Amino acid sequence: MDANSLLIQTTFIGLNYADIYRRNGNYHIEKHKPYINGYEGIGNVVKIGENIKNYHIGDRILFVDVPFSNAELVAVPAENAINVPKFITDKIAISLGLQGLTADFLAHDLAANHIDEHVFIHGLSGGVSQILTQLLVADGIKVSGTVSTDNKIQIALDNGAEHVYKRDEISNGKLFNTFDTVYDGVGKTLPQSLELLKHRGKVIFYGMAGGLPSPIDPVNLMSESKSILTGDLWDYLTDHKSRQLRFNRLLKYINRHQLKINSPEVIPLSNGQIAHELMKSGHSAGKILLQP
Ligand SMILES: NC(=O)c1ccc[n+]([C@@H]2O[C@H](COP(=O)([O-])OP(=O)(O)OC[C@H]3O[C@@H](n4cnc5c(N)ncnc54)[C@H](OP(=O)(O)O)[C@@H]3O)[C@@H](O)[C@H]2O)c1
Repeated sequence: MDANSLLIQTTFIGLNYADIYRRNGNYHIEKHKPYINGYEGIGNVVKIGENIKNYHIGDRILFVDVPFSNAELVAVPAENAINVPKFITDKIAISLGLQGLTADFLAHDLAANHIDEHVFIHGLSGGVSQILTQLLVADGIKVSGTVSTDNKIQIALDNGAEHVYKRDEISNGKLFNTFDTVYDGVGKTLPQSLELLKHRGKVIFYGMAGGLPSPIDPVNLMSESKSILTGDLWDYLTDHKSRQLRFNRLLKYINRHQLKINSPEVIPLSNGQIAHELMKSGHSAGKILLQP
């Protein structure tokens, strides 16, 4: 551990889709052989680097971008530490972590939708999508989208979605040219996302949970004034301030009772394989945590 880091004893480790890409060896940001590491966790400070003044032993710290976090002890650079207020439990804080910060930058930095606009989200039951839906609804935006199974419809409605469709219900063309913004974290649905857009609308493309998209011709997009915006959370979390500011932004929604987090699925770290299989299967709905 270096002089600018905190040693954290983790209580929970967050599983994210990027962990699946890394295990598959096809994470677009770090192309290398498959490996399992983890990036997100929460826990208490057990040792403090000598250059650090403003932390104490026992402080609770959340982190979302520290490699090798699938461990009981993780060295977290102080720049990456997010302070968590007492009123939030570990499970809720980490469920608001990487998935919440992603939903926040997708809603507030990348898309910047206006009140009463119509937005479509693929995979409404996913961890990012559930938080994104609630943020957008609280911001006065109308949300529709898809889920894969009947039992996920109610989850999406409870989060405030107005119209919830099964995946196969949207290919008949009835919803084409309808939405101001389409959020696509499924990937292979990108051509469909462009069809769902109104002229002058935008797709927010942010992941490939369902597989890579086919190539898109920008000349065709131009003829209908449609745009594709993309973004990665790592480009928005550049220092302690940008991490803490965005986390605090999420806490405001919690305090106003506009954002609630369903109980996460907790799986022992020693059963990590089961957790990865659950996330990859698409049967999960919300956060998956690993417990050391
Ligand atoms: N750009 C960034 O900075 C950033 C950061 C974090 C995450 N992400 C991306 O965000 C996406 C969601 O991540 P997450 O953590 O929320 O994962 P998640 O909880 O596993 O949610 C993914 C959801 O996508 C839907 N889905 C999965 N496979 C599908 C398929 N073949 N066809 C259609 N829908 C499918 C499922 O929802 P339904 O069952 O409801 O359909 C699933 O619950 C991933 O692509 C991830 O890479 C991007």
